[in-house]
Amino acid sequence: MKKKIFITRKPPEHVLNNLQKIFEVDIWNSEDTEIPRDELLHIIHKFDGLLCLLTESIDEELLDKGRNLKVISNLAVGYNNICIEEATSRGIMVTNTPGVLTETTADLTFALMLAASRRIVEASHALREGKWRTWSPMFMTGMDVHGSTLGIIGLGEIGAAVARRAKGFNMKLMYYSRSRKPEFEAELDIEYADLHTVLQTSDYVCILTPFTKDTKNLITMKELKLMKNTAILINTARGGILNEMDLIQALSEGIIWGAGLDVYEQEPLPLDHPLLQFPNVVTLPHIGSASIQTRTKMWELAAKNITLALQGKTPPNLVN
Ligand code: GLV
Ligand code: GLV
Repeated sequence: MKKKIFITRKPPEHVLNNLQKIFEVDIWNSEDTEIPRDELLHIIHKFDGLLCLLTESIDEELLDKGRNLKVISNLAVGYNNICIEEATSRGIMVTNTPGVLTETTADLTFALMLAASRRIVEASHALREGKWRTWSPMFMTGMDVHGSTLGIIGLGEIGAAVARRAKGFNMKLMYYSRSRKPEFEAELDIEYADLHTVLQTSDYVCILTPFTKDTKNLITMKELKLMKNTAILINTARGGILNEMDLIQALSEGIIWGAGLDVYEQEPLPLDHPLLQFPNVVTLPHIGSASIQTRTKMWELAAKNITLALQGKTPPNLVN
């Protein structure tokens, strides 16, 4: 008898076809709506495997109901939506999709740095709103990226890929990470420092660390106050690493110069959110890995992980 899997969003045709050759597959047949939590709770007991998104909270309640689950394959590199300890204690494998999205997410991180520093979104809006009256010397002037100092918080694969790009912009590189990364220090000429020093010295600070109980609220008002008032903060990791109320206050008081954000404490970000009021904040809807090529590769990798796990093999991206 074929094993049963559930996929919480509509996958690409070829991914679905391949999975259907091996498994009995049920899907939430939508690209852009989430399966209601109650529905997932109601059906999860039927399945051996779950391929889910970061929009699903895989917690104790869901794992209790999913009593036949052997694997949870997350379509993301981050897996803070999954309670790993609860999954592990039930013998359920958890997998993610690292590697394939590294360069694409680094591209987006760099795009946010350039957009926030050179006021790309604000300037484009100004033109369309009829505010471009003449070429004015100081109109829409921003901050230089080239030659400035970049501080990376969390030097993993994505951080290193951002650092490689920054070298082409002749930036000075620093990082703070839980552990030293000698291989990246040698390759990238990047200097390790404590968090305070990185914040005090950098013109750009990029948050690229996983969201865990240790990194929750890593950046609060205390840390923001250490930054230069000309500095720009970029977050393409997860919302809760950066305390949003504190960021809003820091922006209001001119404690930092601007920000580029792809992730938020609450997603989707409500339209009346104060962060959307600042012209000096570039706000994107969590699209770090969103290229057609990379999202396709993520689907393929998540499918491979769930397949190997249910075939009794060790999936390539096991996280527990
Ligand atoms: C997206 O945010 C991911 O973790 O892959
Ligand atoms: C700007 O367009 C310049 O020529 O300096």
